[in-house]
Amino acid sequence: MPSGSDPYFSVAGLSILIAGGAGGLGAPLAKALSARGARVVVADMDEGRAGTLADELIAAGGEASSVRLDVVDGASCAAAVNLTVRQYGRLDGVVNASGIYRVAPALELADAEWERTLDINVSGAFRLAREAGRVMVEQRHGSIVSLASVSSTVANPNYAAYAASKAAVAHVTRVLAVEWARHGVRVNAIGPAVTPTPLAAPILATESSRASALARIPMGRFGAPDDLVAATIFLLSQGSSFVTGQTIYVDGGRSIS
Ligand SMILES: NC(=O)c1ccc[n+]([C@@H]2O[C@H](COP(=O)([O-])OP(=O)(O)OC[C@H]3O[C@@H](n4cnc5c(N)ncnc54)[C@H](O)[C@@H]3O)[C@@H](O)[C@H]2O)c1
Repeated sequence: MPSGSDPYFSVAGLSILIAGGAGGLGAPLAKALSARGARVVVADMDEGRAGTLADELIAAGGEASSVRLDVVDGASCAAAVNLTVRQYGRLDGVVNASGIYRVAPALELADAEWERTLDINVSGAFRLAREAGRVMVEQRHGSIVSLASVSSTVANPNYAAYAASKAAVAHVTRVLAVEWARHGVRVNAIGPAVTPTPLAAPILATESSRASALARIPMGRFGAPDDLVAATIFLLSQGSSFVTGQTIYVDGGRSIS
């Protein structure tokens, strides 16, 4: 069977909204899905980069558009979902790769940083899933994939806000999965390890923080955005039709070490 034609692992023709789609992980995922025939809407706070990426995808022969999205705002989430439905007639999948990373010793962690982290990373994931869920439950079909983290399960010092947000993403994923299972809507997450992107820059900033992060990954390397492509395709496609509520760690063993 030629590669890409296996219906278990096909995203061809699927209508997919990618939040944080201009980011270090979101953009390569948007490219990978578009290259495999998905029709994508690139949604991001950074409207300019989202638009540039959509233009690139179209130039490469894909179907794509872009929209400004702020996951802090429920109306903005609804608008991005509605644009995708208007554009492509339905919403088959959502990939939420938006997020921020703030770390500080707990004794120095200001309320504003705690609240901003939870507002974007978990409340944002919920708002977007809720707005997507309204459409997907009605159409009785859809797959939502959120970017969680190894921090959903491991306890790193200085990570109180980020780890709380990512643990909550994994658990909200379970709750929504149970709530919408009978409506044909699946909800899952992917937990990456440290992957060099703008978000991870503080970890890679000094030789000692880089080395200590690397030492905790059993496979001995950082993640690469391409490591997430197969898991994302799996969770969006037919092959995972009986998989819901799961966080799949794509992390070189970090979460079990
Ligand atoms: N890179 C890593 O090491 C790593 C590891 C584990 C999990 N993750 C998670 O993966 C996701 C993507 O991370 P990344 O490395 O691509 O980060 P990134 O900073 O490169 O990209 C994040 C994107 O989210 C967008 N964004 C930020 N706030 C937003 C908001 N309020 N509404 C909409 N969009 C917003 C940004 O504009 C950016 O394009 C995040 O949830 C992150 O926590 C990343």
